Amino acid sequence: MQKRTIVSMPGDGIGKTVLDQAIRVLTAAGFEANYVVGDIGWEFWCKEGNPLPQRTIDLLEKHKIGLFGAITSKPKDAATAELAPELKDKGFVYSSPIVGLRQHFDLDICIRPCKTYKGNPLNFIRRGAKNTIEEPQVDVVIFRQNTEGLYGGVEWSSPKGVVLEALRSHPKFMQNFGNVPPEEVSVSTRIFTKKATERILRAAFTHAKEFGYKSVTLCEKPNVIRETSGMMYKMAMEMQKKDFPTIELWNTNIDAQMMWLTKNPEDYGVIVAGNMFGDIISDGFAGLIGGLGFACSAQMGQSGIAVFEPTHGSAPKYADYEVSIVNPIAMIESACMMLDYINENKIAERIRKAIAEVIENGKIMTYDMLKLQGKPDVIEKGAASTIQMTDAIIAKLK
Ligand code: NAI
Ligand code: MG
Repeated sequence: MQKRTIVSMPGDGIGKTVLDQAIRVLTAAGFEANYVVGDIGWEFWCKEGNPLPQRTIDLLEKHKIGLFGAITSKPKDAATAELAPELKDKGFVYSSPIVGLRQHFDLDICIRPCKTYKGNPLNFIRRGAKNTIEEPQVDVVIFRQNTEGLYGGVEWSSPKGVVLEALRSHPKFMQNFGNVPPEEVSVSTRIFTKKATERILRAAFTHAKEFGYKSVTLCEKPNVIRETSGMMYKMAMEMQKKDFPTIELWNTNIDAQMMWLTKNPEDYGVIVAGNMFGDIISDGFAGLIGGLGFACSAQMGQSGIAVFEPTHGSAPKYADYEVSIVNPIAMIESACMMLDYINENKIAERIRKAIAEVIENGKIMTYDMLKLQGKPDVIEKGAASTIQMTDAIIAKLK
């Protein structure tokens, strides 16, 4: 069989470190692939005025599957200040290459699983009724709509002209903001389309059915955000009734869900939400299973293009350590999601088992697992380096 080609996009900072380690694990587990490097991130913004060069888009177009580390983003003024001198004042404006990828390829479905590893010292614990200590087993998969809603970018400050007219045509605007001068108003829209809402809901229900989860929880706020959350809720009810009658549909509000996730996280299975609430809820659950060192994700769309990445950023303060201390597991788990996506489930399971064994064994732990402050001296204090953690996982591959 012809070897697959994977577009490897290390990006910035620790993105480079952890992506290298994930590829080592993939290779050691017997996954045969060619890797081509896709340029992305700060370096290319500074040198070329574009953090997502067209050549990287072309590579993804061709090979379809990307592994991505992390990028550094900085506020607008800092970004402009770091541009190469010959590019300054040429009208280049920084925008996040991740958001750029999502939009370019319409990667509308984001999947973020959060599963407890036995023995992880970072697991959430709570007090039981009789003063016992309980460690709930979290096994949640969050489906986040990835392209619309509050992150759709349709925004105005000091609205004028037809925009202001449209706002003023709404009785609630007149009632609540009618007396406010327009130059003191900023507006961000929350646009949901039926097509994208249908796709994220169907992806969530399908996953629940395929992997034996008994429920799908829609986590929005339909009682207050009536049009968008309300539409999603109505569509979820119709879809459940018509196509997924064996799966229960639960409906929670985002605020209440954030409380319940520490009270009874083990009750939830598949969760589906719009862009912003999906982002919030997935960070919330990630905190219960170990935080950023463990949080993986996949982004995919109708084009067949998919990108797999840890949810953490480039952690620049750790990027230049002589011995890297960051936890590679989130990136390695993201690589496992890639294997699932391309039907290499057996290899993915072997890697996940190896990770689980290393964690349960408890001898090799990165600084975050030891609850140490991330400083170079964590190695002396007994923390495993990024490479030692990877080596330990590779050693457990059977
Ligand atoms: P960050 O995720 O890079 O780091 C926050 C903190 O989390 C770190 O200081 C560290 O304590 C911990 N951490 C992160 N990854 C870890 C790992 N693998 N192992 C152990 N500990 C880990 O977020 P921060 O500091 O807010 O942002 C840094 C840069 O990354 C910014 O430029 C930001 O824009 C960018 N960013 C990029 C993302 C992406 O590429 N998808 C996502 C989030 C932030
Ligand atoms: Mg987030």
